[in-house]
Amino acid sequence: MLRQPRSVRLVQWRWESLTLHQTSPDPRTSQRTAFLVGVTLSGQPGWVVEEHLEELAELARSCDVEVVGETLQRRRTPDARTFIGRGKAKEIATAADHLGADLVIFDDDLSPGQIKNLEEICDKQVIDRSALILEIFVQRARTREARTQVELAQNEYLLPRLTRRWTHLSRQAGGIGVRGGEGEKQIEADRRMLRKRIQHLKRDLAKIERSRKVQRRGRRHATVIALAGYTNAGKSTLFNRMTRAGAQVEDKLFATLDSKLRRGSLDHNGRTAVFSDTVGFIRKLPHHLVASFRSTLEEITHADVVLHVVDRANDRWEEQMEVADEVLEELGVERDRVVIVFNKADRVDGERPAAAPGADSVVWVSALTGAGLDDLRAEILGRLNGAAP
Ligand code: GTP
Repeated sequence: MLRQPRSVRLVQWRWESLTLHQTSPDPRTSQRTAFLVGVTLSGQPGWVVEEHLEELAELARSCDVEVVGETLQRRRTPDARTFIGRGKAKEIATAADHLGADLVIFDDDLSPGQIKNLEEICDKQVIDRSALILEIFVQRARTREARTQVELAQNEYLLPRLTRRWTHLSRQAGGIGVRGGEGEKQIEADRRMLRKRIQHLKRDLAKIERSRKVQRRGRRHATVIALAGYTNAGKSTLFNRMTRAGAQVEDKLFATLDSKLRRGSLDHNGRTAVFSDTVGFIRKLPHHLVASFRSTLEEITHADVVLHVVDRANDRWEEQMEVADEVLEELGVERDRVVIVFNKADRVDGERPAAAPGADSVVWVSALTGAGLDDLRAEILGRLNGAAP
């Protein structure tokens, strides 16, 4: 009988400690404010990190976190204890205080120890890019599958950081009588509970994966076209165009988490295919997320043709394309199954090259206006009929 309330407490604690929307009785004061930190390591040009910080700011805004300031630091190598060095951490603490930030977000992944040390110096919550991405996924997950995948990834991320979270909480709880020794015992109990929850979620996910496999077997005679690419590239807009479906399209990162399947036509002779729209990729996607989204991503692995959608109007399109290429390679997708789709052509002036780095041919489209879709269908049919890419 003791188990029930303890697990409830753990779940509540988990959400309170990681969620960026702190519970506040007054909705006007619930928005969180953040100070961003980027580090240029030796050999990296400064502008790359500046662009990465811009993306981090977009991620923060996707979580309704207001960015009030940012800083860049040049270092030869990361500091083992604080990533940026103690002196710089103190500067950040002062700046973040001055600007009224209640959260410090690092663009790089931090170890649990680094987070703990930085929180002590800054005296506010410090999170890294992975935690921020996980938070976005938590907010976007709608179906049972996506929720299970996200919760598993979040718990795996949280497990080694439990000490800090508890310390963080026990500091707050100190006023109501939690003593240090009790805290230590509690960490162990919470850790056990978290491990159990992870096992439970893994079993659930295995069941979901099995039913996905059964569904896939049922579709084995259908042609499957998967849409893949960097977040916000326009996959859902293209999916809607190709299938006339009503997939959610939003100008925000990771609007689509659940994979969607719908039939669309490929020519005027009634040839159709099942189109699959799935989760977007991003630079440094937390590896726990990639692991738990494997079953969703397998829709891509098993597709006959993969449309790699690139937001060609984005200044960072080349880097975004590389990131997505790497994920596709990890998933075991061979290059000859991939069609590079340069989307948002309506926003690109001037030259439209017919090839791209690592691809002999590309198809230019505007999912928004519908331009280029006939060329895309012809390219897909060419691939399906075995024409050389
Ligand atoms: P995630 O779910 O985050 O992975 O995004 P997505 O790749 O599915 O992108 P989505 O289709 O949601 O589009 C993102 C934004 O780009 C939306 O505001 C779209 O209206 C816009 N967009 C998509 N295609 C085009 C296009 O061809 N031209 C222009 N100008 N905007 C487009």
